[in-house]
Amino acid sequence: MSDTNDLAALRDSTAQQLAAAADLRAWDAVRVAVLGKSGSLTGLLKGLGAIAPEARKERGASLNRLKGELEGLVEARRTALEEAALDARLAAERLDVTLSPRPFPPSGAEAGGIHPISRTMEEITAIFGAMGFAVAEGPDIESDWLNFGALNIPEHHPARQDHDTFYLPAGADGRRPVLRTHTSPVQARTMLGQEPPIRIIAPGRTWRADHDATHSPMFHQVEGLVIDRGITLGHLKGCLIDFLRAFFDIRDLPVRFRASYFPFTEPSMEVDIGWSRKTGELGKGSDWLEILGSGMVHPKVLANCGIDPREWQGFAFGMGIERITMLKHGMPDLRPFYESDLRWLRHWASDPLSPPSLAEGV
Ligand code: PHE
Repeated sequence: MSDTNDLAALRDSTAQQLAAAADLRAWDAVRVAVLGKSGSLTGLLKGLGAIAPEARKERGASLNRLKGELEGLVEARRTALEEAALDARLAAERLDVTLSPRPFPPSGAEAGGIHPISRTMEEITAIFGAMGFAVAEGPDIESDWLNFGALNIPEHHPARQDHDTFYLPAGADGRRPVLRTHTSPVQARTMLGQEPPIRIIAPGRTWRADHDATHSPMFHQVEGLVIDRGITLGHLKGCLIDFLRAFFDIRDLPVRFRASYFPFTEPSMEVDIGWSRKTGELGKGSDWLEILGSGMVHPKVLANCGIDPREWQGFAFGMGIERITMLKHGMPDLRPFYESDLRWLRHWASDPLSPPSLAEGV
């Protein structure tokens, strides 16, 4: 009898058809034609009942063996087709990560860059961020109390005149809001808004009625505030020396602390860096350049902001962002910062694809 021949033929033809099936669709048609409800193997199995009982056992066993074999072939082909499909997809959807970024500055009119003021703010944030400082913010329009009063600058104090303040019309309380003359009100806002310990910087816009090559009515400052237990002048000095050396990228930059006066710090210190007046070079020569104001937060300011000065101490500092940007890059004039001259902007803009990182040295 063709007992085993027909089975061998079915196995061979199935293997051939599977090999010819180029995709999962064709494969499924083969699978159904052999193993499906009315498939050839199923038909053979159904035919078992018509066979004489003595032959049935052997035929049944052969058919079951064949069934296992066919199922194995079908599964193997499916795996092979799925792998091939995945390989094809991976090849088609490949992302070429070796593609170099567009050259900077790009020539097209659509090209953008980071403004030097923004860049300096990013660098300051990166450096202080690495020292554990968070960034705080406050509004440009500030109350007289937060800009002056809370900071221990009383009514009629000469510091109010020094600041060339822009005043707004008085509100319901009869007090005139101001365009903040420094970022120091963010010190007060932060102390009023959160419990110590505090460690923040506050970069932002500031305003004074003043205009020449090194002053603009709108300019930028960054404030710093640290409040904790046992904070000393040593912390202030170490923190600012580290910052100045990192920012100007001069390892041994000379830094000098000089006694000064601010109503909101006691003692107060002006901070100078070494430079050569003759060549303009930073870190060289024997001249000093004033960079920022700083000091230990005045106990009255702590008390005004709801912090017990017997338990908490701190230091604060404030510096002009335009000024340190001009010094770092050797820019002679501050006015072009705000003139939107594309030639100037293209020259000084930084690559938006390389944000400042301490690993590279900012
Ligand atoms: N607010 C001061 C200024 O604008 C700078 C400063 C901030 C000084 C914090 C001491 C402490 O000149």
